[in-house]
Amino acid sequence: MKEEISRVKEELEEKLKKVSTLKDLNNLRVEYLGKKGKVTLLLKKLRDIPPDERPVFGKLINDLKLWTQEKLEEYFEIVRKRVQEEKFKSERVDITLPGRAPDLGAYHPVHTTMAEIIDVFVRMGFEVAEGPDIEDDYHNFQALNIPPEHPARDMQDTFYVDRENFLLRTHTSPVQIRTMEKQRPPIHIIAPGKVYRRDADLTHTPMFHQVEGLLVDVDVTFADLKGTLTMFAREIFGPETRVRFRPSFFPFTEPSVEMDIQCVICGGKGCRVCKYTGWLEILGAGMVDPEVFKYVDIDPDKYTGFAFGMGVERIAMLKYGIDDIRLLFENNLRFLSQFR
Ligand code: PHE
Repeated sequence: MKEEISRVKEELEEKLKKVSTLKDLNNLRVEYLGKKGKVTLLLKKLRDIPPDERPVFGKLINDLKLWTQEKLEEYFEIVRKRVQEEKFKSERVDITLPGRAPDLGAYHPVHTTMAEIIDVFVRMGFEVAEGPDIEDDYHNFQALNIPPEHPARDMQDTFYVDRENFLLRTHTSPVQIRTMEKQRPPIHIIAPGKVYRRDADLTHTPMFHQVEGLLVDVDVTFADLKGTLTMFAREIFGPETRVRFRPSFFPFTEPSVEMDIQCVICGGKGCRVCKYTGWLEILGAGMVDPEVFKYVDIDPDKYTGFAFGMGVERIAMLKYGIDDIRLLFENNLRFLSQFR
């Protein structure tokens, strides 16, 4: 009996060393302490032992049972820890890996240019005005001194919304009319926005952006126009920028001019971009034609004013050295992300 007890003990010690999972351990518990377990069977065998020897063997077997329970518990802790460590190791996250940076967006160069233009004029005291993209013939043409059937309408190929009256505005100049209809001088506004023309090639898109300007007050002269626009050009293209004014024609200004800046590509020497003239046209302007004042009931003997209009895409192209306007509208991310 004694031998059996120590054999069971030794055997269990050996088996415990080989245990690797909690399941193995549970199997051992059944094998030794279960109903038909080896320790349980030894306890049952006590019946076959003579009564006077029972207390001694009883104690030995009971000690074995207690020892077995303790050992199983001890190993339960060991195995549990080991299993948990393995789990930690296999599920480990490498926190030193650099993360994936969120992809930052960028303002569109047309937007940025528009914002800069607006900022220059707002700093001079102009206020931002707006008008509708879908205009009527009266505001887009007639009140700007462009009567029906007038050849000046050929300057801008128009998208008509219906046959009679409505069209996509071909310039931001109708905002001049809408502002003067509801406001008395002094007026000093700029009107940024989209305009539409039936054009599509290297330098024209059917939709583009303009910034319009209008200043009406007493004693406004052509010198004010020149000073304001020269200042504007130097703010946008740099303080050394040279400008020139050439005579031109618009039905709603008299006299009319176009303003050129010295070519930003070649510095005036002559190149492909300035067509070897050394100059680049950037806007149209002039003194408000007294005919226009009559449409909005402003007295031309009392007030004078100047107006100007410029293409934002053209200025963006000159600022960033972009040679094809269509790049601005293709939404190619490799192009756009350069403006971050
Ligand atoms: N509206 C003109 C154009 O689109 C530009 C302009 C505006 C000219 C204001 C003179 C005064 O070409």
